[in-house]
Amino acid sequence: MKFVRNKKTIVVGIVLFALITFLAWRLIRPMNVFVVSEAFERPVSTAGMPPSLQSLSANGCAGCHREFYEEWSKSIHSQAWTDPYFQVDWAFDGKPQICKNCHIPLDRQQEYKVVGFKDQDKWQPILEPNPEFDAQLQHEGVTCAACHLRNGKILGPYGSGSTAHPVEKLANPNEVCFKCHVVGGDRWDTFLRFPPCGTVAEIRNTPGATKDTPPVAANGAVGRETVGPGNATPDCVQCHMPLAERPLVAGGQVRTVRKHLWRGGHDPEMVKQGLDAALREAPTSSPDKRSFTLTLTNAGAAHYLPTGTPDRQLTASIRLVDRNGAVLREDHHVLKRSILWRPFIVDLRDTRLPRWQPRVFQFDVDPRRDPTAVAVEAQVQYHLLDEDRRRRIGYENKEPIAYDVFRDRIALNREKTN
Ligand code: HEC
Ligand code: HEC
Ligand code: HEC
Ligand code: HEC
Ligand code: HEC
Repeated sequence: MKFVRNKKTIVVGIVLFALITFLAWRLIRPMNVFVVSEAFERPVSTAGMPPSLQSLSANGCAGCHREFYEEWSKSIHSQAWTDPYFQVDWAFDGKPQICKNCHIPLDRQQEYKVVGFKDQDKWQPILEPNPEFDAQLQHEGVTCAACHLRNGKILGPYGSGSTAHPVEKLANPNEVCFKCHVVGGDRWDTFLRFPPCGTVAEIRNTPGATKDTPPVAANGAVGRETVGPGNATPDCVQCHMPLAERPLVAGGQVRTVRKHLWRGGHDPEMVKQGLDAALREAPTSSPDKRSFTLTLTNAGAAHYLPTGTPDRQLTASIRLVDRNGAVLREDHHVLKRSILWRPFIVDLRDTRLPRWQPRVFQFDVDPRRDPTAVAVEAQVQYHLLDEDRRRRIGYENKEPIAYDVFRDRIALNREKTN
């Protein structure tokens, strides 16, 4: 009998030991934060560059397509490599090659050629020096050819052909975005509702997207085009590349084109267009109590607000202040996606705003308890990353990493409104 018990203890011991070792290994070993898919496992080949084009540089395209160049050069795509936040983050991660395939996607933008992979996950490419490396082109980040050059042809929406370069018709302009704006997430040890940076997946899978909620363009935010609830097709260009009428080249035929703006988290106006915010006094049953609500609605973005890297977040503060502006009491809410990275990748919480679903924060005030209070204030901020992460990776930002997208104030010295 005793012998059997001992044997059981040994087996349990071994299993426990194995489990603990496994978990310890998973906690120490750096985990790959996303799954490498075929879409971006290798850089874009420029092998068949149209011979009629002298250069693949955006400056070359600018010679004929000036306005597109001006717009692109002010967009974040042109800074996808030089962006100081990217550079610091990339170095912090140990400079993996894979990051380049989206931030400098053309083969000529990279010092090394990817000739194969050492591991199954494709995080360790086999590299060889690239004689065609072009340092100037590298600085252009997501340059024109990154989106437009495929198999020696220039992809375009008309497919009209031109003597300047061969053209191939782009069946769906949004396909261009899908390559980089969603990374894979399916893996045995990964439990995510959306893959990381899953902008595309957010549009396809938002619950309630077909419910009876107001159409996106209610505030006129997205211009001529409207997207209604139930439209779960990710139409990125409709909001990120607004329509215009102009020729493609100086003196050319006037066409309906799309401005190359791609405004997002770096542009306060764009975030404000996506966000409906209102601070109101709400009725209460007790004559002494006063109640206030801050309502936040993602009314202008088809994906979550904020979207993109899990670094992005919104904070909402509601404060009770005295006549000198001193804060007597404050509620602070963080709207962000929290992911557990180790020992398994798990979605912990997602408090961001799905489209068209209002979020209400209530703030109660008892004027007898705070006799010096004079007003309730609300402030909503967009953060490109939070202060903790900034410090951890050692990013010394020159541009602010957070900015206001909403501010309002209600004075208490009025009669109660109900
Ligand atoms: C991030 C991807 C991307 C980059 C970078 C990019 N484009 Fe485009 N471009 C597109 C898409 C998508 C369309 C198709 C828009 C549509 O449906 O009309 C387009 C369309 C065009 C058109 C046709 C007119 C139009 O708007 O439909 C021209 C010309 C053009 N791009 C030139 C350029 C030039 C020049 C650059 C660099 C300075 C550039 N593009 C950079 C994605 C890109
Ligand atoms: C020598 C001038 C010239 C250069 C350089 C040039 N293009 Fe063009 N491109 C044209 C002309 C001309 C058209 C046709 C205009 C039209 O049909 O209205 C055109 C059309 C296009 C279109 C629309 C294609 C369609 O029919 O759907 C795109 C996209 C485009 N160019 C992108 C680029 C990119 C990207 C570069 C740089 C790699 C570039 N072009 C360089 C002259 C040029
Ligand atoms: C080759 C990869 C690639 C493609 C294709 C691409 N993007 Fe991007 N995009 C990026 C990268 C990388 C960044 C981030 C650059 C940075 O901040 O360092 C970015 C940033 C953005 C931003 C954020 C701007 C901001 O202010 O932070 C928007 C919006 C955007 N892209 C929209 C689009 C749309 C719409 C398309 C399709 C027409 C598209 N992108 C195609 C790689 C790509
Ligand atoms: C109905 C309009 C709408 C559509 C459709 C839409 N977006 Fe956006 N997008 C916005 C607005 C508004 C913002 C700014 C608020 C925010 O960050 O959510 C934004 C922000 C972004 C950002 C900025 C995130 C960052 O890190 O700075 C990216 C990237 C982006 N969108 C990509 C896409 C892609 C890719 C698609 C298509 C799959 C798409 N969007 C479709 C309206 C839209
Ligand atoms: C599949 C394409 C892809 C890969 C691979 C990729 N990125 Fe990005 N990255 C993007 C896109 C698209 C954006 C902008 C939209 C967003 O926020 O998701 C971005 C944004 C960023 C930003 C925010 C930049 C800013 O200005 O705020 C950082 C930092 C970043 N990436 C770092 C990395 C690092 C480090 C790696 C490698 C571990 C990497 N990226 C790999 C596509 C990619």
